[in-house]
Amino acid sequence: MSLRVAVAGAAGRMGQTVCAAVEGADDMELTGRADPALGVAVADVLADADVLVDFTTPGTAVENARAALAAGVHVVIGTTGFDVDELRGVGGANVFVAPNFAIGAVLMMRFAVEASRHMAKAEIIELHHDTKIDAPSGTAKRTAELMDGDVPVHSVRLPGLVAHQEVILGDVGQTLTIRHDSTDRTSFMPGVLLAIRKVGDLPSSPLVGLEHLL
Ligand SMILES: NC(=O)c1ccc[n+]([C@@H]2O[C@H](COP(=O)([O-])OP(=O)(O)OC[C@H]3O[C@@H](n4cnc5c(N)ncnc54)[C@H](O)[C@@H]3O)[C@@H](O)[C@H]2O)c1
Repeated sequence: MSLRVAVAGAAGRMGQTVCAAVEGADDMELTGRADPALGVAVADVLADADVLVDFTTPGTAVENARAALAAGVHVVIGTTGFDVDELRGVGGANVFVAPNFAIGAVLMMRFAVEASRHMAKAEIIELHHDTKIDAPSGTAKRTAELMDGDVPVHSVRLPGLVAHQEVILGDVGQTLTIRHDSTDRTSFMPGVLLAIRKVGDLPSSPLVGLEHLL
């Protein structure tokens, strides 16, 4: 039986890409597109869904997730800039959150964590399109949290960019730069589809980070 998937933020840049990816997956069915821009509320799509995928805004992700959980619908959240702690202890179904669904970004974070154990200091430069609402990015915040030491983050917002991050580590007489570039939103889709398949079967909830599903 195919997984029934509804998307919150379906008219947005990420939401549209997720809808197309779900429609292209053999084991999934797109059952709802919720977005104020489409005149459809999240509450209207929950009855027909096993999983709600949320790519909305920091101010609405928690409310959408709470509504889904109350309806027994699992939630995959890609929205950044909200506080995951607000979903702790809320039962009913599972929550999976990833600040970055691109495999290359997950590897960048892992390599940066490893490098931070061996080099004196590090800083992060994250670069995104100029309509991104939150700064610093969820990916940069999470990378800095996972790395050793105090890691300052610098944010660049410019047209022409999608999602990019550079971790620069410095030590005596040398630097190491680890860089990841998402040049297209399709880079996030294998990770999103994986999370949709696995969210019903998590070891704990809310679970944060794609690395836990790989
Ligand atoms: N985790 C990742 O890998 C990843 C990758 C890219 C972007 N993001 C994040 O995804 C989020 C969305 O990014 P975007 O570029 O698609 O933004 P966007 O502005 O293009 O789309 C957001 C959409 O959400 C809709 N929306 C607002 N309130 C809503 C509600 N209550 N219910 C349903 N829909 C609602 C808006 O109308 C809009 O269409 C941002 O937080 C961004 O940082 C995460």
